[in-house]
Amino acid sequence: MTTASDGPKKLFIKTYGCQMNVYDSQRMAEAMGAEGYVLTEDQSQADMVLLNTCHIREKAAEKLYSDLGRLKPLKAERPDLKIGVAGCVAQAEGDEIIRRMPIVDLVVGPQAYHRLPAMVKKGGGVDTEFPVEDKFEHLPKAPATRRAPAAFLTVQEGCDKFCAFCVVPYTRGAEVSRPVSRILTEARDLVARGVREITLLGQNVNGWHGEGPGGGEWGFGRLIRAIAEIDGLDRIRYTTSHPNDMADDLIEAHGSEQKLMPYLHLPVQSGSDRILKAMNRKHTAEEYLRLIDRIRAARPDIMLTSDFIVGFPGETDEDHRATLKLVEEVGFGTAFSFKYSPRPGTPAYDRPEVESVLADARLQELQALLSRQQKAAQEGMVGRELSVLFEKPGRNDGQMVGKSDYLHAVFVEAPEAKVGDLVRVRITHSAANSLAGELLAA
Ligand code: 5AD
Ligand code: SF4
Repeated sequence: MTTASDGPKKLFIKTYGCQMNVYDSQRMAEAMGAEGYVLTEDQSQADMVLLNTCHIREKAAEKLYSDLGRLKPLKAERPDLKIGVAGCVAQAEGDEIIRRMPIVDLVVGPQAYHRLPAMVKKGGGVDTEFPVEDKFEHLPKAPATRRAPAAFLTVQEGCDKFCAFCVVPYTRGAEVSRPVSRILTEARDLVARGVREITLLGQNVNGWHGEGPGGGEWGFGRLIRAIAEIDGLDRIRYTTSHPNDMADDLIEAHGSEQKLMPYLHLPVQSGSDRILKAMNRKHTAEEYLRLIDRIRAARPDIMLTSDFIVGFPGETDEDHRATLKLVEEVGFGTAFSFKYSPRPGTPAYDRPEVESVLADARLQELQALLSRQQKAAQEGMVGRELSVLFEKPGRNDGQMVGKSDYLHAVFVEAPEAKVGDLVRVRITHSAANSLAGELLAA
């Protein structure tokens, strides 16, 4: 019989979905760490299993129930095993989850996870409240352990844009920006623990705004410049953005701030004005293209990435061709494309759907085009001199792997190097999903 071993209690976390969930899982692990829990990679050894869920598409949400089904035998063997569901499915479905899957002990929404330790002590429950205060302030401070060289930092949460297909405004709530001082304190703390690259996170991160230390309103560009002043921090990235919040000061920061990496994820979703309107995106394809021109004028070597939805209700072949045309015009470094998934509670939910096989065919066509562009962008790196931040040893002896300025994984022979080194590399080779490079003299 499998039993959790003696010693500290073990917590197993499975994270689904976006980078914000990755960050949240880390903060929940720290909160539970203060209660004496240590992380385990082995679910069968855990005293508590926490599933941090995603609700963005139906498939993502259904994964939770198949994983819970697989946990049933473990719970039957060890009734004291605590099972928790966190994240956006928790928010959307609340106690319905426990009704459908009685093996679940607790359900905690993304705005309530600072109360997770108290819930665990109580033995379970459901908490999907939206607190008005900054939940991050109520989490115990992380122990001063060393961190991997690249880290996430949530600066903004929630979304007020209400795109017609999207659950985020309902699961994550209204837009909230964290205050400047708290962001700077967390960034400095990360750097003190060995972090050299920070990715600022938010569902609508470039909509971040806040009061500066000397009063006066700061926009996201100003925040980036303040973070860039931290000694020991070398790279800044951010994700994910809305085209309508690309303010002038942010575009300018892409030109002037060397620590801001030449990489921008800017979802457009569709290239058809009719569909953009039906999606409530509040911009046209032309406005997006002109915005890209301005961003490229500020930072000519920037790599652009995006998100697309195909088969949105009402999408015709002509709309689809407009999307392909926009992709041809921009030339993306990489992009995520999804088949539309109707989500309960969203404005588009009841609209007549595009025939499934048609949507599948469009998705294939779009993905083929995007893969060609991705391959071309990657091959275009060969011969270039880039910086690489080493994140872990590679498969072969003496090899390290890290990320380039453009977020490509790069393998480098570097027997003397250690994790956290930021080196100059000449790219020599492009493979399926990674690059190879050789060290240049420092
Ligand atoms: N169906 C398909 N894709 C969706 N996305 C958001 N909601 C849906 C949906 N209902 C995609 C969008 C968004 C990304 C995070 O997920 O492209 O930018
Ligand atoms: Fe969802 Fe992004 Fe639209 Fe907000 S801006 S509703 S998070 S797709």
